[in-house]
Amino acid sequence: MEPVRICASEELIDGGAGLRHAAKYAGGDAIVFFVRYGGQAYGYLNRCAHVPMELDWVEGQFFESSGLYLMCATHGAIYAPDTGKCVGGPCRGGRLRPVQVDERDTPDGRAVFWLPDDDLRPVTP
Ligand code: FES
Repeated sequence: MEPVRICASEELIDGGAGLRHAAKYAGGDAIVFFVRYGGQAYGYLNRCAHVPMELDWVEGQFFESSGLYLMCATHGAIYAPDTGKCVGGPCRGGRLRPVQVDERDTPDGRAVFWLPDDDLRPVTP
């Protein structure tokens, strides 16, 4: 499946706002999101492991105030940004569903791409 360009690398700030992208997951509507942490870009399905809700109340706000963890705004589940594993709150034992991310140089500069898979893919017009 074709890689999807998400943004220019400099748009994804370490520990800062994430970027959302519309997706289809197992046939239903979903959102995937992308963040940067420790210099590396990561992407996940925007669905909490506690109750299947989106994590961000304020669009794109996935990090809690320290910038070290991703937090679900609904009941405060905390996830490690680099693995998606639950490290606190009601998501115990769960994890975010990762998506594959590629960051590379393009003729227009360095950019972040989503490499979709069969279950979780971009919405095609
Ligand atoms: S829905 Fe995310 S913590 Fe409950």
